[in-house]
Amino acid sequence: MAESGVTRIHALPTGSLPDRVCFVVMVTSGPETILSIDKLVVRYRARDTGPNGKLAVDRLTLEVQRGEVFGFLGPNGAGKTSTMNVLLGFIPPTAGTVSLFGVPVDRPIARQRIGYLPELTYYYRFLSAEELLRFYARIFGLPTEVREQRIDMVLKLVELEHARKKTIRTYSRGMQQRVGLAQALINDPDLLILDEPTSGLDPIGRMKVRSIIQRLKQEGKTVFFSSHELGEVETVCDRVAILSQGELKTLGRVDELIRQYECDLEKIFLKVIGYSSEP
Ligand SMILES: Nc1ncnc2c1ncn2[C@@H]1O[C@H](COP(=O)(O)OP(=O)(O)OP(=O)(O)O)[C@@H](O)[C@H]1O
Ligand SMILES: [Mg+2]
Repeated sequence: MAESGVTRIHALPTGSLPDRVCFVVMVTSGPETILSIDKLVVRYRARDTGPNGKLAVDRLTLEVQRGEVFGFLGPNGAGKTSTMNVLLGFIPPTAGTVSLFGVPVDRPIARQRIGYLPELTYYYRFLSAEELLRFYARIFGLPTEVREQRIDMVLKLVELEHARKKTIRTYSRGMQQRVGLAQALINDPDLLILDEPTSGLDPIGRMKVRSIIQRLKQEGKTVFFSSHELGEVETVCDRVAILSQGELKTLGRVDELIRQYECDLEKIFLKVIGYSSEP
């Protein structure tokens, strides 16, 4: 759940001349919005999408607060990855606004505190895990000493220490997924955006990802992730949003939804998206 009653101190420079710089200190309290999506529309236009294009996300509005683990759910094609692609600045919104840490996503600074695991991971297969992580650590400008410590730490966390010097081409699907997760954590991000982090993992691997997410939460990190593993989502998430055909169908605390619908998340999901097993 979002931490409430948090007191934060913001120091804002108010002067423009170096010898006249002074700061206003504002003390605020309450939850901090880390991710904000307001009436987001994503419409793809391509030769094969017809004259109106393909509406992938339809006026989506939601917010995620600091310290929350948020499950972003929906059937295949619901618009989850499209939304994440806007959050990461990979594609522009057709309409609407999206901010991270209070900064619009078209400003690169909004992305510095993020870790991202893509739906499909394609890394340089001729690199070893530690070489790959060194590459990403350099992108984030981590100093050498911090970099090596971070690499050791994340490899331990995803349990790939034994394979750290082997090239990624020799990794199994699950090992590649874990190196992706290590990559997402290399900069010690405050917000993790994970597109199906447990895809391709065996039950033990899934359990480990779950415990990594729980650990991140304990450290005060915010996790926004998509998943089709609803049992796991139920265990690990504070809140969920369920999307169908680009539209937000349900948004709420997992425990409250379970109480309200009097069934587990999988059944809620099927009801909300209007799935019926009847022919
Ligand atoms: N580049 C694109 N051009 C045209 N249509 C696209 C493009 N990318 C996605 N779509 C369409 O937009 C819709 C949403 O796709 P998206 O990948 O966001 O769904 P998703 O919820 O991530 O699905 P999944 O669970 O399968 O990963 C789908 O109908 C998809 O076919
Ligand atoms: Mg997707």
